[in-house]
Amino acid sequence: MEFTTEIKKATDPIYQKISKVLPEIEWPVHAPYIHKINKLKKEKNAIVLAHNYQTPEIYHGVADLAADSLALAVEASKTSADIIVMAGVHFMAETAKLMNPHKKVLLPDMNAGCSLSSSITGKDVRLLKEKYPGVPVVSYVNTSADVKAETDICCTSANAVKIVKSLGVKKVIFLPDDYLAKYVAAQTDIEIIAWKGTCVVHEQFNENEINQIRKNNPGIKIIAHPECPPDVINASDFAGSTTGMIKYVEENQPKKVMMVTECSMSDNVKIDNPNVEFIRPCNLCPYMKKITLPKILDCLENETGEIIMDPETIEKARISVERMTAVGR
Ligand code: 13P
Ligand code: SF4
Repeated sequence: MEFTTEIKKATDPIYQKISKVLPEIEWPVHAPYIHKINKLKKEKNAIVLAHNYQTPEIYHGVADLAADSLALAVEASKTSADIIVMAGVHFMAETAKLMNPHKKVLLPDMNAGCSLSSSITGKDVRLLKEKYPGVPVVSYVNTSADVKAETDICCTSANAVKIVKSLGVKKVIFLPDDYLAKYVAAQTDIEIIAWKGTCVVHEQFNENEINQIRKNNPGIKIIAHPECPPDVINASDFAGSTTGMIKYVEENQPKKVMMVTECSMSDNVKIDNPNVEFIRPCNLCPYMKKITLPKILDCLENETGEIIMDPETIEKARISVERMTAVGR
């Protein structure tokens, strides 16, 4: 696509914002897509919802909301747009569809999966319920609609502890993230029956790496996502969802910070916090990185990648997500 003078002028304010993290040589490649996507959004009454792990040109260039999984689910339930494009992974697009079944929800790449989501099926949950009759099932939002349909209540990393406590029971089945289950168990006296799923991004961090970074960077604040192993969380100064981590940086303005999570987060947050120095761990989510500007444009233009689910699954799965949003953050 051509980088015309008109496009340069129209997109310059966006480039000025992200120039700290995006080399100038790359802008003529991204700008025509950003310009066309933003134009098409208006013409089609569409919105782009983006997860915090998307690259800066998506996060700052075309997203109407960039947020964590909980906020994306809530926004999907409220929007008046006719089309929702999910710049994120498959379970996020499915959740948006559950929250707004009459809207068209598009995912720019159907192969944008998630190692947690693919670790468990609806059938697995049915077997667990047979094994532990009467024990409520709490599922991380990083699951398929089939799993959500077998679930009593969903949670995200922003509210997992609150959701589990809200049930007022002594024992819960918590799936599929084994590390998030351990994080919840450490903050409650509720017995947790966990599943052995892990996130391919967060399982790679280890305590030695964290301690070494702390030693080499006196005064640094290290903030971790609760999908990390417990020793990593214990070695960190704070743990929270992606939006929780962003708020921590915004409110505390540490001189130096390391966000122990997906790589693009640091770039996105650096743009809005110029006085904070970021030590960047570089673990990329291969699924999140399947989403690109050309794929967003293609799916918006041709309305491809539509999320289609049978009405029965939608009805059953939606209840577990609505119960979660009622409890809140
Ligand atoms: P949150 O944005 O809800 O913290 O989730 C992190 C994640 O891994 C999403 O895939
Ligand atoms: Fe799934 Fe982890 Fe990627 Fe999030 S970062 S989509 S949890 S694999």
